[in-house]
Amino acid sequence: MTRTLTVLGIESSCDDTAAAVVRAGSGPAGAEILASVVAGQTELHAAFGGVVPEIAARAHAEKIDLCIEEALMRAGLTLADLDAVAVTSGPGLIGGVMAGVMCARGLAAGAGLPLIGVNHLAGHALTPRLTDGLDFPYLMLLVSGGHCQFLIVEGPESFTRLGGTIDDAPGEAFDKTAKLLALPQPGGPAVETEARAGDPGRFAFPRPLMDRPGCDMSFSGLKTALLRARDGVMENGTLRRADRADLCAGFQAAVADVLAGKSARALAAMRARGLAPSAFAVAGGVAANAAIRARLTALCAGEGLDFVAPPLRLCTDNAAMIAWAGIERLRAGTAPGADLVPRPRWPLDQAAAPMLGAGKRGAKA
Ligand code: KG4
Ligand code: ZN
Repeated sequence: MTRTLTVLGIESSCDDTAAAVVRAGSGPAGAEILASVVAGQTELHAAFGGVVPEIAARAHAEKIDLCIEEALMRAGLTLADLDAVAVTSGPGLIGGVMAGVMCARGLAAGAGLPLIGVNHLAGHALTPRLTDGLDFPYLMLLVSGGHCQFLIVEGPESFTRLGGTIDDAPGEAFDKTAKLLALPQPGGPAVETEARAGDPGRFAFPRPLMDRPGCDMSFSGLKTALLRARDGVMENGTLRRADRADLCAGFQAAVADVLAGKSARALAAMRARGLAPSAFAVAGGVAANAAIRARLTALCAGEGLDFVAPPLRLCTDNAAMIAWAGIERLRAGTAPGADLVPRPRWPLDQAAAPMLGAGKRGAKA
């Protein structure tokens, strides 16, 4: 029988400062999120068109202890009730990661608690076990403003990257599209709303890298195609509401096609390795997109596979996933004190070739 563990998680690797307390029971029902606090920084970076690392780091340092206090208060616990502290130690914007690790070190030392460093991407990749109790192995698509990759998840520390974006992440492409069409940020929800009224067939957008084998993807060319299409319309007058809707619908359909097509390949690649996935799971802000979800749901239905999309608050950056990944690592026997050196880059799959590019949200691992 596994013993109960109560862990404080701390996350500060991008533009959300977060703290959470997760308790993992001894039964098969898994874990309970006792509290999860997320303080975003959207308004601090709004004027700059992207996350400014120095501003992010300062804001993390100012907010992190308040978030921890709030999380413990909401959970009705004190540090004395915890079994361990888990903190994101990479990959991410280094100033923010350092703010989190330093705070966690102080807390753990003061309270005499074991401290464990967690890979932010492992937090995302292990979330379906927290929310849905998935068994290993499963296939995971991380798809957000900073990440896009397919992972076979075989254990708390066993990840195989099958492919990923070689340039922009899809969320970045949605955000740039919104900017080009004078829609508000973050661009994903705005583009999705416009796309509902649009004709996805009016503009011919490319399906990058679909003509090549493998699971790698590319999204930066889509934004160039969108710019050309927009300028083509504007040569003949102003951009009307209907034009904007058609551009959004065409762009979104291209992203959905690529993600669905490459997901089918990733599933085939996993099976070709002799592994039977227990499910196909997604995480990241772009997983909120209903058109993309519908395509992935249909793909899984056709494959006779469960499709798992954790609730959005656990798909986007949060600290419950860090606390949970800490619990998984402790249970797997990882020594306390492991992985506490802050790292800007930290690929989950150390054996895979490095991915190209680093987006506005920091290094992609
Ligand atoms: O995972 P996330 O909250 O943060 C990080 O990237 O770290 O993802 C944010 C990204 C943004 O680029 C946003 O535009 C995109 O997810 N996003 C969406 C939607 N909602 C958020 N993209 C497409 N459709 C959506 N409904
Ligand atoms: Zn993330």
